[in-house]
Amino acid sequence: MHSSAIPYCRTQFLAGGKCHPTFRPTHRPTTTFSRLRMSVQENAPSLAVVGVSGAVGQEFLSVLADRNFPYRSIKMLASKRSAGKRLTFEDKEYIIEELTEDSFQGVDIALFSAGGSISKRFGPIAVHSGSIVVDNSSAFRMDDNVPLVIPEVNPSSMAHIKLGTGKGALIANPNCSTIICLMAATPLHQRAKVVRMVVSTYQAASGAGAAAMEELELQTREVLEGKSPTCNIFKQQYAFNLFSHNAPVMGNGYNEEEMKLVKETRKIWNDKDVKVTATCIRVPVMRAHAEAVNLQFKNPLDEDTAREILSQAPGVVVIDDRASNRFPTPLEVSNKDDVAVGRIRQDVSQEGNLGLDIFVCGDQIRKGAALNAVQIAEMLL
Ligand SMILES: NC(=O)c1ccc[n+]([C@@H]2O[C@H](COP(=O)([O-])OP(=O)(O)OC[C@H]3O[C@@H](n4cnc5c(N)ncnc54)[C@H](OP(=O)(O)O)[C@@H]3O)[C@@H](O)[C@H]2O)c1
Repeated sequence: MHSSAIPYCRTQFLAGGKCHPTFRPTHRPTTTFSRLRMSVQENAPSLAVVGVSGAVGQEFLSVLADRNFPYRSIKMLASKRSAGKRLTFEDKEYIIEELTEDSFQGVDIALFSAGGSISKRFGPIAVHSGSIVVDNSSAFRMDDNVPLVIPEVNPSSMAHIKLGTGKGALIANPNCSTIICLMAATPLHQRAKVVRMVVSTYQAASGAGAAAMEELELQTREVLEGKSPTCNIFKQQYAFNLFSHNAPVMGNGYNEEEMKLVKETRKIWNDKDVKVTATCIRVPVMRAHAEAVNLQFKNPLDEDTAREILSQAPGVVVIDDRASNRFPTPLEVSNKDDVAVGRIRQDVSQEGNLGLDIFVCGDQIRKGAALNAVQIAEMLL
C-alpha cells in the first residue's frame, strides 16, 4: 500500500449531469469504466444497480468492472432526477432509467443503494419479480429471515439462496462501520471468543453520500477563504471540526449508527450475548472510516499471536510498525479492498492477556458497501 499526498482526483461519470466526485488516489488509474468489456456473457445473470448515480452506486460499477463480474445485461436505475442522463460503463453507453415497479422484470441480481425507504418499497417488488436483492440500506438487516452477510465472516448464512431458481430473495449488507470492525475482530473472536467489544469510530464524509463529500470540499474552501461555511447536509460546520455521528439519537442516548454496531455484530456472530458498545464520530476525512476497537476475550490471546492471525486473515492487511510510528490511515486505505489493522497491543487494563486494542481503517464505500455487496453477488454465481 502506498500513501498518496494528493488524496483524490475528480472524475465525472454523468454526461451533462451533476458531478459525483469519486475520490481516487492519483496512483490508481481512473480508466476503470472504459476497459474492454470482458464481462458480458450470454449465460451470465442480468443485473440492476439501484441508486447508480450515488456514491455507492458509482462504486458498484467500479467494483463490478474491477472484478470482471460476469453479466448479460445491466440496468442503471436512479430517481427521476437522474433519469435520461448518460453514463459509460465498460465501453458501452447507458441511459439512467427511473426506478419504477416494472424495473425488475428479467433482473436476476439487483444491487440496491438508494436509501432505506426505497429499499423498503422496491425490495419486495424486486423479490416478487424473481430478483435476488443485495441491499445496502438498513431496511432489512435485522429481519430474522434476511441474512446479514460479510463474505469473509458468515458466508454460510446465505447458503440457502440460489440463483437461477426463479425465486427472489433479500440479502442485507451490514452497516459500513460493522463490516470494517468485524473484518478485523472476527479472526480474533474465532480464536479467543470476544465477550465484550468497545468501538470508537472516526467516520468519513463519504459515509453520508456524494452530497456530503461535496459539502466537505466546499466548506473547506469557504473556511480557508474566510467565508461562513455552507451547512446543508450536517447543519453544522464539518471542515476543521468533528462531531457526534449525524444519525438520530435514540431514547437510550445512543445514536442509530452506534446501535447498528451493537445489534448487527450479535446477528453476524450469531451470539446474542456478546457485549458491544460504541461511540460514533464524524471526522472531516473525505473517504474511509477509522475505528479504535477494544476487545475483551474469554480465552487468553497475546499480541504476537493476534498479529499473526490478522496477517493471515482474508481481506485484512496489517500495518503495525511501532519503530517508525506507522499505522493504518484513511488515506492509505482509500479505494482499496483490504481493511488495514494496526496498533495491535495488549490492553494494560486487563489481566492475563484477556484484552487487546486494535486500530482499523477501511474504505467504507468499497469494503463497507459496494465491494461487500458484489462479493455477496459473486457467491451466488
Ligand atoms: N456511503 C456509504 O459509505 C454507504 C455505506 C453503506 C451503505 N450505504 C447506504 O447506501 C445507500 C446510498 O448511499 P449513498 O452514500 O450512495 O447515497 P447518495 O450518494 O446520496 O446516493 C443516493 C442514490 O439513491 C438514489 N435515489 C434517491 N431517491 C431515489 C428514488 N426515489 N428512486 C430511485 N433512486 C433514488 C439517488 O438517485 P439521484 O441521483 O437520481 O437522486 C442516488 O443514486 C443508503 O441506504 C446508505 O445508507 C452507504
